[in-house]
Amino acid sequence: MITLEQRQRQIEEHHGGNGEKAAQRTLDNFARHHNEDFWTFWQQAVLQRLPASPKRLLDLGCGTAQFLQAISQQLPRVKLTGIECAPYMLAKQVSLPTDSTLLVDDLNAPERECIEPSSQHIIMANMLLHELEQPISALLACHHWLADDGLLVVIDMVRQPLASYLPHALRDTAVAALSDTERAFHFRQFQEHNRYTADDLAWLLTECGFEICHRDAIRSGRAARFVVRKAPH
Ligand SMILES: C[S@@+](CC[C@H](N)C(=O)[O-])C[C@H]1O[C@@H](n2cnc3c(N)ncnc32)[C@H](O)[C@@H]1O
Repeated sequence: MITLEQRQRQIEEHHGGNGEKAAQRTLDNFARHHNEDFWTFWQQAVLQRLPASPKRLLDLGCGTAQFLQAISQQLPRVKLTGIECAPYMLAKQVSLPTDSTLLVDDLNAPERECIEPSSQHIIMANMLLHELEQPISALLACHHWLADDGLLVVIDMVRQPLASYLPHALRDTAVAALSDTERAFHFRQFQEHNRYTADDLAWLLTECGFEICHRDAIRSGRAARFVVRKAPH
């Protein structure tokens, strides 16, 4: 079994080898990723689908905790929990209400006991699953933690051709102009960001006991969004 420290080193490598820079990138990209389209989706596909106002929300791979902070402003009565593994993300954590909890854990093998069973009304996994070696342990833990009438939201990168992936990742830089190190990094990232198709994610969610309520494509088809609930037995 891999230790937490080994996992943290592995994640830092996935984040480009410079944790502090990766955490700053997460902070800088929050508003772009949580744009008007996201908040409309949040209202219509998530909040309006719940039978009552949520009381507990869990954010998996919460990074610098900006999403939790935004929810604390929007829904001040919700008890917030985040799970994160990278120390450099936690080092740049934004301020949260004092009754919030941030847990340090490896979501490849989550500690189920750290959260009450069937207690969470919303669980968010935003851009997390592709960073896990395998997502099944985390999805089964979500099933264990989710309230019977709760919702799990999964947003993640999906497979795309190199011809659309690389120009987007490189912006204006030509492939031929990259250094050896940059080439190695982008081709490793290409594999990691291309793990699943949207159908793969749908299949994994169904296999782990969920029923899909909402599915759509975002970022010009480079990512997919799912809202799921526990499937009836
Ligand atoms: C791409 S970032 C997304 C952060 C945030 N959810 C957002 O949407 O801005 C993925 C996050 O998941 C965390 N992560 C990756 N693997 C993890 C693991 N095995 N256990 C816990 N957190 C993990 C990373 O450290 C990172 O903060």
